[in-house]
Amino acid sequence: MKELLDAAIKVREFAVAPYSNFKVGAAVLTSSGKIYSGCNVESVTFTLTSHAEINAISNAIANGEKQIKKLLVVGTNYPPGFPCAICRQYILEHCDQDVEIITANLSGEMRTSTISKLYPEAFIKFSSKA
Ligand code: THU
Ligand code: ZN
Repeated sequence: MKELLDAAIKVREFAVAPYSNFKVGAAVLTSSGKIYSGCNVESVTFTLTSHAEINAISNAIANGEKQIKKLLVVGTNYPPGFPCAICRQYILEHCDQDVEIITANLSGEMRTSTISKLYPEAFIKFSSKA
């Protein structure tokens, strides 16, 4: 856990958040025992802004990882806040079903949850049937 937290705190420093001033860092632990991280990167279009959790997950995927076991996100919410709805969709689709989701703030407060608690009744498939 300490390693994940350190990685998320470290990558958070690289966040690009000139519009919100809200820097976020995320780190994931994969089944191979490796850690991948990501930060939020804002765009003047706003729409193009990418979230820390999504960037961390995509970083793991781009390195050939197939199983994400834990995701830790660090921001400056007091108490710590869980990933947003868009990130929850991405976590559900690209992490293990029983992925542990941990949120922390810079004061060291932490909360833990699961994706089924955070995102019940998820959108998981669509049908092209008329
Ligand atoms: N942000 C994340 O990186 N992850 C979340 O789940 C919530 C929001 C970022 C997006 C934006 O750059 C800033 O935090 C404020 O919304
Ligand atoms: Zn998000």
